[in-house]
Amino acid sequence: MPSLTIEQRWTWWRETLGSPRYCCAPMVLQSELAFRMMVRRHGSTLCYSPMIPVEAFLRLPADGPPVAPSTGGPATQAAYFTTCGADRPLLAQFGGNDAGQMLAAALLIQRHVDGVDINLGCPQACACKGGYGAFLMDHPDRVRGIVETLVAGLDVPVTAKIRVFPEVERTVAFAKMLEAAGVAALAVHGRRREQRMHQGTVDYDSIAAVKAALSIPVIANGNVRSKADADAVLASTGVDCVMSATALLANPRLFSCMHAPEAPGGGCMHAEPQQPSLLIRQPALQPKGPTLEERAQMALEYLECCKAYPSGALPRMISDHLREILRPDLNLPFNVEERNEIEAHRKTTLPIQFASLVRRVHAHGREHARRQREQARGSISARGSGGDQGGDRGSISARGSGGDQGGDRSRPETVRVTEIV
Ligand SMILES: Cc1cc2nc3c(=O)[nH]c(=O)nc-3n(C[C@H](O)[C@H](O)[C@H](O)COP(=O)(O)O)c2cc1C
Repeated sequence: MPSLTIEQRWTWWRETLGSPRYCCAPMVLQSELAFRMMVRRHGSTLCYSPMIPVEAFLRLPADGPPVAPSTGGPATQAAYFTTCGADRPLLAQFGGNDAGQMLAAALLIQRHVDGVDINLGCPQACACKGGYGAFLMDHPDRVRGIVETLVAGLDVPVTAKIRVFPEVERTVAFAKMLEAAGVAALAVHGRRREQRMHQGTVDYDSIAAVKAALSIPVIANGNVRSKADADAVLASTGVDCVMSATALLANPRLFSCMHAPEAPGGGCMHAEPQQPSLLIRQPALQPKGPTLEERAQMALEYLECCKAYPSGALPRMISDHLREILRPDLNLPFNVEERNEIEAHRKTTLPIQFASLVRRVHAHGREHARRQREQARGSISARGSGGDQGGDRGSISARGSGGDQGGDRSRPETVRVTEIV
């Protein structure tokens, strides 16, 4: 279709996307349908699909057995991209460097999405080898050609996600080129290509400069670890929406700010200190991460989403999500078996009893906490305690745990459970 006017791009942003403020980032093997449906329940008002690599996507059969046994990843087009009616607003992201291939791939799914996004931010070796992602930012003419081809050939708007250059002016010039070529909205990850692993300082000044220079909606991305962070970035950069990736993996309820009390000055959950010039916070209000109960609840809720939206929820993705949500638990020595089990499930093609694994981790954590409380009280014998009377009792039932049967076990008792998945 012809390139949209700036006004039409805003109309699309407001009326089709609903002026989203909090966004779930594109994440390979991690922003799949089940996860998107979970984060939508908890305040993410826009979601991206994982990046779909166009060359591999076009090579694959449309349907068939979904898991590639060699990688545990998607084996078909249908496994690469799955959605449902309620999975909106949704942007499908593509990675590639050939305009014709990008268009052919996007045409296959455009009717299921609200827009098609071009990945210009991936810094990984595969992107370097394939000449896509952040490495395309060295070739603005080629990028312009891809955008113009997609804009002309698709019925839905085209967006892009970029990284920043070391120089603000260069970032702004690249962003303006994208706007002129027809992108309807732009996501800016405020780290440079050299900053791998999604870590390191985020250049919010460049994001703010892009927002000030452009007339289209801009999404800020990088190191947003809480709702308070998100709101601080919205306020200080003037962007229209904020995107989170790694923190949302660990806490899919991040944007609904469930743990931390809303405190004066903004006191939402926060793991690490941020850049204080941008994110104003009171040290006394630094909240804690999700509790043991909350982590178990979130892991089980995610598994329920996998059950409700099984299409495309591959064992590898489920394993990785559980690893992220339960990371603080799996790092403890008495959960080494569970950690290894989760790792081993990454490449299976068989259904897995993931819920029992979560309940075991949860039961071990409670047992550990109970022992610590007893030790602190100096009453290790726990006479007449009759089980856990502690303050962290939650809704997760560890049926059949049988309590402490005595003996000096380093590993808490395993529980029998009712399976969810
Ligand atoms: C597991 C994982 C997969 C990712 N896959 C993609 C992707 O497919 N496309 C993309 O543009 N960025 C991808 N990213 C980068 C994120 O979208 C985001 O730009 C980056 O993690 C910075 O955000 P954060 O600081 O909130 O983590 C991925 C990040 C993670 C952690």
